Amino acid sequence: MRTIRIGAWLAVAALIAVVGYVALNERLGGSVAELAGASIGGPFTLQRTDGTTVTEKDLMGRPHAIFFGFTHCPEVCPTTLWEASGWLGELGGDADRFAFYFVTVDPERDTAEVLAQYMTSFDARIAGLTGTPEQVEQIKTAYRVYSRKVVLDDGDYTVDHTATVYLMHGDGRFAGTIAYGEDTASAVAKLRRLVKDG
Ligand code: NI
Repeated sequence: MRTIRIGAWLAVAALIAVVGYVALNERLGGSVAELAGASIGGPFTLQRTDGTTVTEKDLMGRPHAIFFGFTHCPEVCPTTLWEASGWLGELGGDADRFAFYFVTVDPERDTAEVLAQYMTSFDARIAGLTGTPEQVEQIKTAYRVYSRKVVLDDGDYTVDHTATVYLMHGDGRFAGTIAYGEDTASAVAKLRRLVKDG
């Protein structure tokens, strides 16, 4: 497995700081929590695999999860999407009350067609989203996602990226995260709570 770069660790550290800050302020019941919560998420424009446009406004009204990755990913993405398919299965009827999105950080290779084909390997309720490189940069900035292209010896490239699943309330507020490799019971409990809270 490729060594995670310093930048990735900095991104993880920043995310942990934000999550810790939100958790602390939620316990204190302070309005600062809303301010901190507002710092993850925001406006974006992307395309679904059927070519239709989706913006942050289309995600409103339903709690949702967003995961960033790319279809050529050797391990983290297929593992997470496979596990997420299992979470949706365990949620049963609750799964229909929220939405799950997979946003590519490799839009050059992950066209709508490539992404559509890739998503057939996972639960059909996980929607693949792509866009122009500029559009992908916009949502990466909004969600504080780290990704970086790494050229391999054979001239091909891979992409280091944030492996966290973001949980968002139906009104667009940041609700929490599911970590890479987090156990199923914990992940499903978080999703149930998210569906309950809305
Ligand atoms: Ni990946």
